[in-house]
Amino acid sequence: MNGAEVVVEHVRKAFEGGRIRALEDVSLRIAPGELVALTGASGSGKSTLLNLIGALDRPDAGTIAVDGAVVDGSDASEYRARTVGFVFQFHNLIPVLSAAENVQVPMLGRGPGRAERVERAEELLGEVGLVGRAEAFPPTLSGGERQRVAIARALANDPRLLLADEPTGALDSETGDQIVALLQRLRESRGMTILLVTNDRAIAERADRVLELRDGRLLAAQGFDRRQADSSERRVDGAEDADA
Ligand SMILES: Nc1ncnc2c1ncn2[C@@H]1O[C@H](COP(=O)(O)OP(=O)(O)OP(=O)(O)O)[C@@H](O)[C@H]1O
Ligand SMILES: [Mg+2]
Repeated sequence: MNGAEVVVEHVRKAFEGGRIRALEDVSLRIAPGELVALTGASGSGKSTLLNLIGALDRPDAGTIAVDGAVVDGSDASEYRARTVGFVFQFHNLIPVLSAAENVQVPMLGRGPGRAERVERAEELLGEVGLVGRAEAFPPTLSGGERQRVAIARALANDPRLLLADEPTGALDSETGDQIVALLQRLRESRGMTILLVTNDRAIAERADRVLELRDGRLLAAQGFDRRQADSSERRVDGAEDADA
């Protein structure tokens, strides 16, 4: 599987009739398979940007394209279901469903029958290092275990792009470290592209590249530069050859 390419061009987003300018002229490119950390102070626009890239919301201006296709079009729900996996800051698991059932939620109505869903959920929980806890309910899991379930759920439809909004924010630093190590492993094994919001320096430094938002703008020259674009063109070609 190849990770998705993300191209954000001149994106703006305001709230409350324009009073709150959450993003101003943000442009960036994430190469297929890249692990990028997005940092910035509270309120700087990180979640807003993630939500736009995940087509949970639409930009006021500018475009977001994933693998060359603009994501806010009529097929946004198909894009969300097929291409993107979301991991939220506070995991958003359904407390009355078991870990395995939570992981199956994104598969519902998407083809796999019950037996296949159960099997896939078990595999995914194994992939995130959570064997033996499939029947547990989220309130009985530790914070790190819950985030593992949330990551397994995000992987349910084999996304090529994983968007993770401070998945380690509520965890102690050692558990946070393990979650990032898990994301790195998944990136290698699945070839996913990952955009990870974090305010933890140590975690950001483990990414291929760090982007920082300040008052809705990316710090100068971080998002996109020609050299990066040129070298990753070659990388994309190489990846296609390898698959053929
Ligand atoms: N739905 C909304 N309605 C109104 N204002 C919003 C909405 N969503 C975000 N904002 C505002 O937009 C700005 C950017 O918010 P955003 O959630 O993107 O910040 P953030 O960088 O993710 O912050 P944090 O680190 O606290 O999660 C903030 O001023 C926030 O109050
Ligand atoms: Mg946020």
